Amino acid sequence: MASFADAPAGDEKSGEKIFKTKCSQCHVVEKGAGHRQGPNLNGIFGRQSGTAVGYSYSAANKNKAVIWGEDTLYDYLLNPKKYIPGTKMVFPGLKKPQERADLIAYLKESTKE
Ligand code: HEC
Repeated sequence: MASFADAPAGDEKSGEKIFKTKCSQCHVVEKGAGHRQGPNLNGIFGRQSGTAVGYSYSAANKNKAVIWGEDTLYDYLLNPKKYIPGTKMVFPGLKKPQERADLIAYLKESTKE
């Protein structure tokens, strides 16, 4: 299991670029901006998987029932299909620890409610 404790320091600016190129076609981070193909990620830190209001999740994503935070996101984003078998998120994962750390640094700020 990938551990966030071993992650390099994240860079928010570079995380923003990664989000724009790899996540924003399916997700937004702004409060109240609605859902796209994937759920709105506003308020994701500290929230249980599969619980954004008004989004229709797969049973797999709901039943995973993890609390999203640095550790769980770091692990999930490495290989979403392995972390949540049966997820409908079509994304191969970010193999580079630095990319995941940067993205998490960006998400932490941008998804604040
Ligand atoms: C092709 C569309 C697509 C892309 C690209 C994508 N996602 Fe997703 N994402 C989804 C879908 C669809 C779900 C809902 C999965 C389900 O219900 O099984 C999801 C779920 C999630 C969840 C769980 C949300 C919750 O409330 O439990 C997180 C976190 C997430 N995505 C983050 C990301 C990040 C960060 C990226 C970029 C690295 C990304 N996603 C790229 C479509 C996408």
